[in-house]
Amino acid sequence: NLPTHATIIEVGARDGLQNEKQLVPTADKIAFIHKLKASGLVEMELTSFVSPKWVPQMSDAATVIEQCTDQLRNFVLVPNEKGVERLRATACKNAAFFVGVSNTFNQKNINATTEESLQKIGPLIEGLKADGYFVRACISTSFYCPYEGKIEPRAVLALCERFVALGADELSIADTIGMANPFEVYELFTLLKENLPPSVLLTAHFHDTRGMALANITASLQAGISRFDTSAGGLGGCPFAPGATGNVATEDVVYMLHAMGIDTGISLPKLLEAVAYIEPFVTHGIASRQFLLAQNK
Ligand code: HMG
Ligand code: MG
Repeated sequence: NLPTHATIIEVGARDGLQNEKQLVPTADKIAFIHKLKASGLVEMELTSFVSPKWVPQMSDAATVIEQCTDQLRNFVLVPNEKGVERLRATACKNAAFFVGVSNTFNQKNINATTEESLQKIGPLIEGLKADGYFVRACISTSFYCPYEGKIEPRAVLALCERFVALGADELSIADTIGMANPFEVYELFTLLKENLPPSVLLTAHFHDTRGMALANITASLQAGISRFDTSAGGLGGCPFAPGATGNVATEDVVYMLHAMGIDTGISLPKLLEAVAYIEPFVTHGIASRQFLLAQNK
């Protein structure tokens, strides 16, 4: 019962570049995003309105949004009221909030407990929904936390239900440190599908720290998920999650989905052009299978 179409949400410009040691010049980020869009991607996290002291890599967010907002679904991450204010000053109508199931992770990432975050962002979500925004909620540490260990699926469901009650359109369920295995993925997505309204979009967000991400995507497909956050070149990681390496590479996911007869609307050669463009700006090299194959490495 696999789907015939899957949607890729490209997170390279945000999850990818937020974690680069060396700042990528704004003009090159923008060129990278345009090349990604030229490959047929229709949903993308562009950047984030977070504290420039916490994440200097995203301090050029306003310029990136100004140059890259179009009719496609472009997301901007917002952690708090200030982030929402900054978003409202742009033409972008898609907000992505992010909260951890794990309190400790949430403290390290946005300096508040999970409950404190929910109290503060609840009214912000309701306000954005009233004004016609699309709201995505990224649920970090949905499987494991670098500080608290294994996370119970029921705790993930409970947090998802809170966001659904607030009116969120999409839940992106994240394996922040790439520790989940396919059994756990199947179990969690089955639980969420059984208990959440079908109108809410469910998305899987895998980091590939232990090489499990493609297997986890297959397990998600089997559980009825057809939306995936992926990052061109496999860039990514969260500066506040020790042990988190890159997201699963978009090109490897697109290759696998197409080989399985699942359409994405994305051109793999064009996608690889975008990866080749960003490669000189990343300090750790790009190791996705499709990129290495294309480079004859
Ligand atoms: P705080 O220090 O508690 O903030 O940080 P504050 O409200 O006390 O404000 C302190 C200063 O920051 C003030 O400036 C504010 O104006 C400013 P000052 O008076 O000192 O000059 N400030 C801001 N500036 C710009 N934009 C804002 C903003 N908010 C406050 N929105 C805060 C709290 C949330 C700001 C901070 O913790 C933060 O920015 N955290 C972001 C962390 C982050 O970006 N993490 C990575 C993204 S999440 C992720 O990667 C996971 C994901 O991929 C899924 C997964 O894999 O799990 C989504
Ligand atoms: Mg992430």
